[in-house]
Amino acid sequence: MKIKMDNFVLSLSDTLRNAMLKLESLEEKLCVVCGAKGQVVRTVTDGDVRRFLLSEGSMDDKLSSLPEKKPILALHGTSDAELLDAMVNNDINAIVLVDKVGAPVRICSRVSLDKKILLSPPHLGDLEMKHVQDAFDSNWIAPAGPNLTTFENNLVKNTGHQHVVAVSSGTAALHLALRVLGISARDRVYVSDLTFIASVQPILYENAVPVFIDSEPSSWNMSPIALERKLMKDQASGDLPAAIIVVHLYGQVADMPAIMRLADKYEIPVIEDAAESLGATIDNKPCGSSGTLSVFSFNGNKMITTSGGGALASHSYKLIERARNLATQGRDLAEHYQHSSISYNYRLSNVLAGIGVGQLSVLADRVARRREIFELYRQGLTGNIGVSFQQNTPNSFGCRWLTVVEFNPDIIDLHPYQIMRRLSQLGIESRPGWKPMHMQPLCGKYEFEPHSEEHVVSSSLFLRSLCLPSGSAMLNTDVERVVNSIENVILGG
Ligand SMILES: Cc1ncc(COP(=O)(O)O)c(C=O)c1O
Repeated sequence: MKIKMDNFVLSLSDTLRNAMLKLESLEEKLCVVCGAKGQVVRTVTDGDVRRFLLSEGSMDDKLSSLPEKKPILALHGTSDAELLDAMVNNDINAIVLVDKVGAPVRICSRVSLDKKILLSPPHLGDLEMKHVQDAFDSNWIAPAGPNLTTFENNLVKNTGHQHVVAVSSGTAALHLALRVLGISARDRVYVSDLTFIASVQPILYENAVPVFIDSEPSSWNMSPIALERKLMKDQASGDLPAAIIVVHLYGQVADMPAIMRLADKYEIPVIEDAAESLGATIDNKPCGSSGTLSVFSFNGNKMITTSGGGALASHSYKLIERARNLATQGRDLAEHYQHSSISYNYRLSNVLAGIGVGQLSVLADRVARRREIFELYRQGLTGNIGVSFQQNTPNSFGCRWLTVVEFNPDIIDLHPYQIMRRLSQLGIESRPGWKPMHMQPLCGKYEFEPHSEEHVVSSSLFLRSLCLPSGSAMLNTDVERVVNSIENVILGG
């Protein structure tokens, strides 16, 4: 993996002052001094500098004046377990990795190896607690309240829809979307095949019938080719679906222009499941703003979190007000408690909405960081043949909720699960890609439309892909550790 060497490399003619300035900016608190040919001649820590100053050296002395110290080095490619051993045996907290000619490649710290790297943990900022505290101070602990109103208003800006209702989960929002569209028993609902089961459960709650549409190979999202073929067949048999649920997978936007052209032609409403994709855009419009309704999740592992929560958004005031009513036990417009439809308690509380208000204010930063993390993985792993990534749909800007890699089994002789298990032993959490819906025991009896007769994309991705740690609080050194560990595992280290 390429890194900026000038961050931690000094020469013998640098002063102690230069060294202290660099050391202060480095997590590892270790600099490397290189000789004329670029090879490591020594390391410097602030302990070295302090000892030298106590023995009457000055900050303006050159590093060449420091007493000699033999550097402890390791060859780049050494496994994490061996690096940790070397650090424990030598009682040091960081070690310099060098190439075959002794030039520095990177510094590896003990803390970074001891630390467990999680897939996508919550990343809270400074503002969430203030809004939660406001709810406590004003006694708005009831489900509704000012945080909830602010959260819904702010979501309007981020979803591109004019109306939003915040609810207790993304699954609840999907369920409400089906209810307000009037989906009922035996209605057919097309849905992306490669997704999390939550995209499908609400269809089953209503005893409607899911029909799974395969992915297309580059973005891994719903294949417009499979969708068109299925619509033509179902029109011929008089069996068109009542709705299409398009999932924006792992933060990457589906080909909405192509999907909307088909949906409009056949006059079928589209629900966008953007649970994983808040902050992504297509044609400079928020992901989720093309369809009739869109759904977001604020589960603990998502782009932003309310610990648990979701939202349903639409351009239609009528649909969202109906959803709001169904989410709050469906009371009729009467003074007494009168109810005419089956409904739910799906409200998001004012306390949790306070977390959401704080989280939403840093959404742009979270998106930028996840995209940087993707870019670090891409740069770090692209040199390895047999490794590739989910692509962008044209004119889209993915939020890269998760970076997911695809391993080519003709080149890499390991199943992703073998890599996942080795990473887990090294303290790195990775997860399999979603198992397609048509392969789920729960869904085996439903129809599935492949991308092409020769190529089922979703099941091939399931067998080849692995989700990598992508949390927006990850440090660059964490990403380096994951990259180096994957390289070691696939190269048999
Ligand atoms: C694609 C997709 N749809 C729906 C959901 C459901 O969201 P929630 O967990 O908030 O119910 C999730 C995530 O959990 C998801 O990944």
